[in-house]
Amino acid sequence: MKTERITIGDASKHVGETVQVPGWLYNLRKSGKIVFPLLRDGTGLMQCVAVKSALPEAVFDTIKDLTQESSVVFTGKIRADQRAPGGYEMDVENVDVMQHIPESDPYPITPKDHGIDFLMDHRHLWLRSQRQHAILGVRHEVIRAVRDYFDSHGFTLVDTPIFTPAACEGTTTLFEVNYFEDEKAYLAQSGQLYNEATAMAFGKVYCFGPTFRAEKSKTRRHLTEFWMVEPEMAYATLEDVKRVGEEMIVFVVNRVLENRRAELKALERDVSKLEAIQTPFPRMSYDDAVKLLQSKGSEIQWGGDFGGTDETLLSQEHNRPLMVDGYPSAVKAFYMQPEPSRPEVALCVDILAPEGYGEIIGGGQRIHDYDLLLRRIEEHKLPKQAFDWYLDLRRFGTVPHGGFGMGIERCVAWICGLEHIRETIAFPRMLYRLHP
Ligand code: 4AD
Ligand code: MG
Repeated sequence: MKTERITIGDASKHVGETVQVPGWLYNLRKSGKIVFPLLRDGTGLMQCVAVKSALPEAVFDTIKDLTQESSVVFTGKIRADQRAPGGYEMDVENVDVMQHIPESDPYPITPKDHGIDFLMDHRHLWLRSQRQHAILGVRHEVIRAVRDYFDSHGFTLVDTPIFTPAACEGTTTLFEVNYFEDEKAYLAQSGQLYNEATAMAFGKVYCFGPTFRAEKSKTRRHLTEFWMVEPEMAYATLEDVKRVGEEMIVFVVNRVLENRRAELKALERDVSKLEAIQTPFPRMSYDDAVKLLQSKGSEIQWGGDFGGTDETLLSQEHNRPLMVDGYPSAVKAFYMQPEPSRPEVALCVDILAPEGYGEIIGGGQRIHDYDLLLRRIEEHKLPKQAFDWYLDLRRFGTVPHGGFGMGIERCVAWICGLEHIRETIAFPRMLYRLHP
């Protein structure tokens, strides 16, 4: 009879059975005539027990000499053991070595401390370590929850293009690419403008894809390539945008708490901070935020945009995300609908994550009046011709509408409690990082 192959994640269903587990050697502990290989397979860690007296000599010797990250298939009997990492152990009966990594050219990442540059240069291998594995597990859960939230609330997923003919959030941060003969294209920095078109076709839509920003900022919050989810709703006001934003965040955090406890534990995340994330989120106007910041010693003046430090200060004030609305139109994108009674401020909102994480969501209501939009396009010196289709949306059945964008990596960094955004994506792209 052929021995069944299982994953470590499924070990609980095979207690008492002899099975095969393919994986990689994570660690090896020796204690006299017993060795304890710790196996990882992507679904978990399992301690194996190889007893010299119970094994043919060649098998025991092979196991005892295994090196870190060598690829191996262990055969043995699964046993429940509460003290073991993952709760199950294997009494090894045999081993099949796929590749033995030689001592002379060992796996470069060892349990000792490595500097961040070394680890980033070895990102393709670093992903195997427990902490990185936990972060990417949380990322997967966040993405799944985001999709589930929108899919179960009447939103249709409509993908927007990556090659675009013009800017959305301003021209200075675009990656330009040659698009055949003499045409230039830009990598999308947001799907929003296209979402506005699809929202007029479907009512409620979202797009979710990679976005690109040639920002020369070397901060712990900026990537040049990041994933953004962007819902857009027809017949919606700023209030609707805020409500969906806070509901979605609570939904996502709850999902991670439900399904990723082990990962949060591996990351030593204080889950009580996440359990506190409930609606309603506190709200504050830009005006009040400026006053508060000034009282805390910030240099900010009314009319300026918040820097990272300002956002950190604001988001430390509350144990829930903070919604700041009514920024000056001048510091925001051209499409922002002005506040009717105070046109110098925009019907927009930024949601700042607590614990100093800063902005994770930016959004608001869009201009739905043709003439005003045209004026803004001219004021911002944007090429009108590139926006003809966008203006058409204001000619043919225009309605108040709005939406937001949430950067997945910023959200994951906050939920995982990370210092830096670079660990939230498998292969980060940053100002000085394009490899591997
Ligand atoms: O505030 P932003 O620039 O808004 C937009 O792009 C709108 N068009 C979205 C919309 O309304 N549909 O970006 C939205 C979010 C930010 O709050 C942040 O989470 C993330 O995208 N983000 C970045 N994440 C990582 N690296 C960067 N360089 C980012 N820039 C923005
Ligand atoms: Mg923003």
